[in-house]
Amino acid sequence: MEDDFLTNAQEQPDEQTLDVQLRPQTLGQYIGQDTIKESLLIFINAAKQRDEAMEHVLLSGPPGLGKTTLAHIIAKERGVNVRVTSGPAIERVGDLAAILTNLAPGDVLFIDEIHRLGKVIAECLYPAMEDYALDIILGKGPTAKTIRLDLPKFTLIGATTRMSLLAAPLRDRFGNHYHLEFYTPDHISQIIKRSASLLSVILPETAAYEIATRARATPRIANRLLKRVRDYAQVKNAGTITEENAIEALHALGIDDLGLDNLDRKILETIIQKFNGGPVGLGTIAASLSEDTETIEEVYEPFLMQKGFLQRTPRGRIATEQAYLHLGLEVPVMQKPMW
Ligand code: ADE
Repeated sequence: MEDDFLTNAQEQPDEQTLDVQLRPQTLGQYIGQDTIKESLLIFINAAKQRDEAMEHVLLSGPPGLGKTTLAHIIAKERGVNVRVTSGPAIERVGDLAAILTNLAPGDVLFIDEIHRLGKVIAECLYPAMEDYALDIILGKGPTAKTIRLDLPKFTLIGATTRMSLLAAPLRDRFGNHYHLEFYTPDHISQIIKRSASLLSVILPETAAYEIATRARATPRIANRLLKRVRDYAQVKNAGTITEENAIEALHALGIDDLGLDNLDRKILETIIQKFNGGPVGLGTIAASLSEDTETIEEVYEPFLMQKGFLQRTPRGRIATEQAYLHLGLEVPVMQKPMW
């Protein structure tokens, strides 16, 4: 949907090539997430020195921050192959068995959106993770037989945007858990400059900064905005990007000075104008906007909360005083918390 295409951190259908083209290949090229990088370096080198498969790794955090990129880097730095799949793509136990039995010792299996794995599949994964074995049930009823397939020692890297939806037994079988945080403006700016150079785009420092402040602290969005600014400059200014035309391009795309897009503002306006500033339930907000609750909860709310425009309370969502001020609306006198 055009309204949120630019600032929705979820990967859009045609975007994989851009992500792959700009994806850093090594930990050294990876910008930001410094604590995670330091810890990964030790973890990977220790496995290398012992010549063992790495322990299983769980990566969590909002979409677009680089979980898939990190999984590829971990495999590359360890010098093993990576097989990529996702929770919804593994529909039957047979699919999982086919993937697992084809791995070489030490290989990485990356399962994106691992919280969306079916219960039966997740249960098959437990012995695979713990004992490197797969129990397959042949037949039904009293004549059913279980056979145990031995698997190579592999490393599972699971990624999730929704830690709370991950079953505890699955979560507990990961030896390492890294939570990716939103990036600082400085790191986003460095990522934009690196991407510009890979795309052979000349980008003044000030223009990189303008894009960075509107990229929701998310590399995927930063790279997307960079491409739009490049297109704008090509049509309006013979390809030269300046601070002014970067700002113009971003305004033309409906993104305001703090990086809010049309849907961000509509969410806040709905809470304020239709529900007196809240508290109002997520389902009610989504229904009034004809939007999907999951997108609002996973993509929009974390950013609006991070900016201090929205609060989640047990009774529902509340627009803060800052939200009124940002939208140029009058702050009600009795705007006191209801919880
Ligand atoms: N491109 C996307 N994410 C990146 C990151 N964290 N570092 C460098 N380039 C990136």
